[in-house]
Amino acid sequence: MTKDQQPTPHSYDTVIIGAGGAGLRAAVAAAAAGARVAVISKVPPTRSHTVAAQGGINAALGNRAADDWHWHAYDTMKGSAWLADEDAVNFMCERAPAAIIELEQMGMPFTRDMAGLIYQRAYGGQRTEFGKGGLAYRACAVADRTGHSLLHTLYAQALKYQVKFFVECIALDLVKNDEGAITGVLVWQLETGDIHYVAATTTIIATGGFGQAYESTTASSICTGDGGGMALRAGLALADMEFIQFHPTSLYGAGVLVTEGARGEGASLLNGKGERFMADYAPEDMELASRDKISRAMMAEIAAGRGAGKNGDHLWLDVRHLPEDIILHKLPSVMSICQTFARLDPRKDLIPVLPAVHFTMGGIRTDRHSLAAPHLLAIGEAACTSVHGANRLGCNALLELVIFGKAAGERAAATKEKSRPATTANLQAALEHFNAVRNARGSLGTVHFKRELKRIMQAHATIFRREDILKTGLSSLQELWRQWQVERRVSDTSLLWNNELVEALEVDNLLRQSLCVMASALARTESRGAHYREDFPASNDAQWKHHSEVRMTADGTVHTAKSMVRGADFMV
Ligand code: FUM
Repeated sequence: MTKDQQPTPHSYDTVIIGAGGAGLRAAVAAAAAGARVAVISKVPPTRSHTVAAQGGINAALGNRAADDWHWHAYDTMKGSAWLADEDAVNFMCERAPAAIIELEQMGMPFTRDMAGLIYQRAYGGQRTEFGKGGLAYRACAVADRTGHSLLHTLYAQALKYQVKFFVECIALDLVKNDEGAITGVLVWQLETGDIHYVAATTTIIATGGFGQAYESTTASSICTGDGGGMALRAGLALADMEFIQFHPTSLYGAGVLVTEGARGEGASLLNGKGERFMADYAPEDMELASRDKISRAMMAEIAAGRGAGKNGDHLWLDVRHLPEDIILHKLPSVMSICQTFARLDPRKDLIPVLPAVHFTMGGIRTDRHSLAAPHLLAIGEAACTSVHGANRLGCNALLELVIFGKAAGERAAATKEKSRPATTANLQAALEHFNAVRNARGSLGTVHFKRELKRIMQAHATIFRREDILKTGLSSLQELWRQWQVERRVSDTSLLWNNELVEALEVDNLLRQSLCVMASALARTESRGAHYREDFPASNDAQWKHHSEVRMTADGTVHTAKSMVRGADFMV
């Protein structure tokens, strides 16, 4: 350990890595229960990626039409292609209505209907009566800025409970004691260059997804799967990594999300000939079919030569027939995103759209109580708890982070038994990876690796998959990993605002998880949810109604295994 790396020690009951919706909800719950809580965030908390969530948060409130949490749970299971764990799904859906009222009471400014009730809109793959009834109106919305409102509401609560924030701080690695229990996290503070050791009885990972592994993604640049990278380096398992959700409507060219809420309000999808092509793929659900089905239909239309624009390489979202009042008051972000990023007016113009990576269903494997390892919990998109299985329903992401964030915070606050403290040697071990990246003196800079990684993932682990394409993808990634080990270069070793080093650490996390995605996708010889294999187009329950699990050894080899799907009565 060099002199500039002597970690400054801190001690808390709970340390949470990540200040998005999951991390903040956990922080509020733990602090409200009396715990001393620290939150580590690489950006100012209200810039966390949850701020980009638009359309809503699901709960069977039944404000617009009768609803029932059992119907919500059924839709979630069906949407997951029966791969979600039913105990976790029931836990989430049953608690959803109370969680919304709780948010409302914290001050979240939900949009109201004419009766003054919380406004709810329809979303894809959700119906009443166990899939047999009409559309479910389940997504509770703050116009189309629901994540923004949620994040600000929770941040205000966290300040009220005097949560300590380590802002613009990079979580480097988990610290393990001699018994292998997690005792906290090492943190690098960009503004001062200091290294901190934040020790806690319970550590919670809430670092979000790794959408930045792809070229075309709605995930912001901070979504680099830092928690997943730390978990792999700590020898923990990730699960269901092959399931990558493509959102059907990202703005063509810019990749910015155009909310599914637009289709929930009645927007149509058109091909280059002006036809509502979903009639050929999902005649009953049309534009409110599940995201995996719509994304495949869109790519099939383009492949068949029915794309839009001069290159026939995108499709149209049409909101022109919606009342102006809906566009201006229920979809203001659609309006401003189109104006800002495409210089068009959606009231008059068609919106060019294309599927883009939106959500990573896989993550750090946990049980229903979010436990990943002794003294370590994982929640939100970073975790695979698993409530999304092979495909997530729109508006279940915000719900997941609120429900499991709260439960994890309460669990952490209730955990009194401390693990044995880490030694200097343990801290040194946790700094090894950071030092290896910081001192890389090869000939290839991070930009090369990031560009190559994104290219490989976009081309080889995409909407339609096949053995030969996945195999080439895996060997390309393995070669990139080999290069990364021996040829990477970080030219600036300073610890003050060193963006080159931050990016290198992020690329390492992305590369590890991309290897897991590709290996898991190659291993799963069936189609299920967002994982579609042209060479195995049917689901194979006998062999594959299982979670995939991966671990990575120090040399970067990914080991794949299977684990069982938990039923409703599963209890640990
Ligand atoms: O389109 C959307 O509003 C996205 C919502 C979600 O992914 O949950």
